[in-house]
Amino acid sequence: MGYKVVVAGATGNVGREMLNILAEREFPVDEIAALASRKSLGTEVSFGDKTLKTKDLDTFDFTGWDIALFAVGSEATKIYAPKAAAAGCVVIDNSSLYRYDPAVPLIVPEVNADAIMGYKNKNIIANPNCSTAQMVVALKPLHDRAKIKRVVVSTYQSVSGAGKAGIDELWDQTKGLYVPGQEVAPKKFTKQIAFNVIPHIDVFLDDGSTKEEWKMVAETKKILDPSIKVTATCVRVPVFVGHSESINIEFEEFLDEHEARDILREAPGVLVVDKREPGGYITPIECVGDYATYVSRIRQDSTIDNGISLWCVSDNLRKGAALNAVQIAEVLGNRVLKKG
Ligand SMILES: NC(=O)c1ccc[n+]([C@@H]2O[C@H](COP(=O)([O-])OP(=O)(O)OC[C@H]3O[C@@H](n4cnc5c(N)ncnc54)[C@H](OP(=O)(O)O)[C@@H]3O)[C@@H](O)[C@H]2O)c1
Repeated sequence: MGYKVVVAGATGNVGREMLNILAEREFPVDEIAALASRKSLGTEVSFGDKTLKTKDLDTFDFTGWDIALFAVGSEATKIYAPKAAAAGCVVIDNSSLYRYDPAVPLIVPEVNADAIMGYKNKNIIANPNCSTAQMVVALKPLHDRAKIKRVVVSTYQSVSGAGKAGIDELWDQTKGLYVPGQEVAPKKFTKQIAFNVIPHIDVFLDDGSTKEEWKMVAETKKILDPSIKVTATCVRVPVFVGHSESINIEFEEFLDEHEARDILREAPGVLVVDKREPGGYITPIECVGDYATYVSRIRQDSTIDNGISLWCVSDNLRKGAALNAVQIAEVLGNRVLKKG
């Protein structure tokens, strides 16, 4: 016997990947429902070799369903996640709505799978921000060895992190630049994203940082260790899929770059590609469709006593969202619900 699984947001970037990954990983599904907004009613989405027709989230009855993977954004989550949870269905949510709620576990299975039992508080589990998910996968094994004091991270985030509308804007704007009269003005992004980079993701906060940067700080503390200091600069780049990060780490203890590389080679979820030669590193295009968090350019930072710098790349729709959510469902299944 397997699970009755709901995917809410099934027509979106993350929802479609959730369906792909559930099928790829042969998650034990007895029945599956693909939900979206009313305007998408009947839209066809793929689940392995099957085609599903989307149903309306607004009228869906969650009674009797085991797990709901949500990827509908915070506003819709606020309305529908509590309904699903109250009906006895465990919600694994991709929005930021519940991430900072102390009663809701925020989980990256390679890092803090043991937090899973906290699901009982609200019947809800939160999935982290895409940039945080890949970063903590790389940081965790290094933290276990040499205790991280401080992290300085700059991100290079793809437009798919801003949903379907982000992908469309980069595509249309890039084409429009070559066709007189078909120029596309910025709408989803604040400035032209084609052939440009934008140092602004999510809203500005009082201290001059952005909410996306704050998320990396708060979520790293909640998932990995509250004592780690993080300073982030989050930048949108004209890449369709795959977030990249330049990460500088200061440790309490000395960690040699060779040992750091060996630790990362053994770490769950990490793939090291680090040849010191042209092309001996990973770029976002090469990570698309993969599960791994790739680490390249591992090197000593000689400007501080105990420092390492590295380059970290992952598919933001997978490890940054859909894969992580399915991995959480796997932990929930194996440790708690025990069907399948
Ligand atoms: N993209 C990433 O890298 C990433 C990473 C981590 C977390 N997330 C989070 O995951 C969520 C989804 O992101 P996305 O990139 O997949 O967005 P998206 O491509 O814009 O898709 C949004 C999905 O939500 C559905 N939806 C929106 N409002 C709804 C409503 N009121 N009722 C029912 N369905 C509704 C849409 O259905 P229709 O097609 O019918 O409108 C669509 O299926 C967001 O919370 C986002 O912050 C995204």
